[in-house]
Amino acid sequence: MNAHNAATDTIIDPFGRAVSYLRVSVTDRCDFRCVYCMSEDMAFLPKKDLLTLEELDRLCSIFIDKGVKKLRITGGEPLVRRDIMTLFRSLSKKLGNGLEELTLTTNGSQLERYAQELADCGVKRINVSLDTLDPVKFRAITRWGDLDRVLNGIEAAQKAGLSIKINAVALKGVNDGEINSIVRWSHDEGMDITFIEVMPMGDIEPDRYDQYWPLTEVKQHLAEAFTMADINHQTGGPARYVRAQETGGRIGFITPLTHNFCESCNRVRLTCTGMLYMCLGQDDSADLRAPLRASSSNDLVSRAIDNAILRKPKGHDFIIDRVGTRPAVQRHMSVTGG
Ligand code: 5AD
Ligand code: SF4
Repeated sequence: MNAHNAATDTIIDPFGRAVSYLRVSVTDRCDFRCVYCMSEDMAFLPKKDLLTLEELDRLCSIFIDKGVKKLRITGGEPLVRRDIMTLFRSLSKKLGNGLEELTLTTNGSQLERYAQELADCGVKRINVSLDTLDPVKFRAITRWGDLDRVLNGIEAAQKAGLSIKINAVALKGVNDGEINSIVRWSHDEGMDITFIEVMPMGDIEPDRYDQYWPLTEVKQHLAEAFTMADINHQTGGPARYVRAQETGGRIGFITPLTHNFCESCNRVRLTCTGMLYMCLGQDDSADLRAPLRASSSNDLVSRAIDNAILRKPKGHDFIIDRVGTRPAVQRHMSVTGG
């Protein structure tokens, strides 16, 4: 079987899913240490193993030639990588040239500085991770973050004309009391909001079971304040959306645990060292750095991608069902990007 269909320029996996979406983690480092994402004394990938921004750009181009239409730059925190705007500028040249959307997931800490440049590079929509509007809780969740700085970043992004989606991880005993007010605030600001279930990725200090708040329960809680109607909104991601009648805004739900959405998976993930992961929740990966560096022709990389996609698994099997649940995969979210 050949994963690459030259006639239509798409890569198709063994389950018939077309891979049109690449997420690129440009650094595993971050200026926050969110309690569900990282351990306090995280070990990061050695800097010497990093792909250069030019190499990342070259890899992205190869994926675009193979039918990828949407690129999301993630991390870690992508905006802490030095000279990251160089990558955005070069990727922006591919918009309309095979690439349909260039986007970003960020914790917002550097947005004030970069929002305008991102907009100038053709970025239209960004995801900002924000789990609470309480500055004390914000510090407790992120360990190192400053809420005001993120809010200023969001304001700058709005001024630059970027549309923003807030991503909030549902955390039992942490943000469960302010879910409704986070929704109201997001919608007042003209932003969508998506809730995410905590995923068992990598070792962290707290117990995942204590953090995990199933979105089935979040929805029941929201239903006390909002009348929610299912809508057909699609962003190319796994979220399912409803519209809240009271605000007119959208609420999304990403439910890797309570409702598996792998059957419609259209994405693969590239790390900052050039490892390609075919699934967020599985360990299998393919090294693209060696074939990239072996030759100035793209054939080796192209073949390595085809072979990797043929191994794309059916889905993840995340479970958090008891105290002491072990991670499904050893790597943290910050390696493969959210
Ligand atoms: N489970 C769920 N979400 C996570 N994120 C980081 N780590 C985890 C995890 N273990 C979230 C971030 C961000 C997105 C990229 O992923 O909060 O919103
Ligand atoms: Fe950084 Fe995002 Fe992980 Fe928080 S969730 S530590 S902001 S990468």
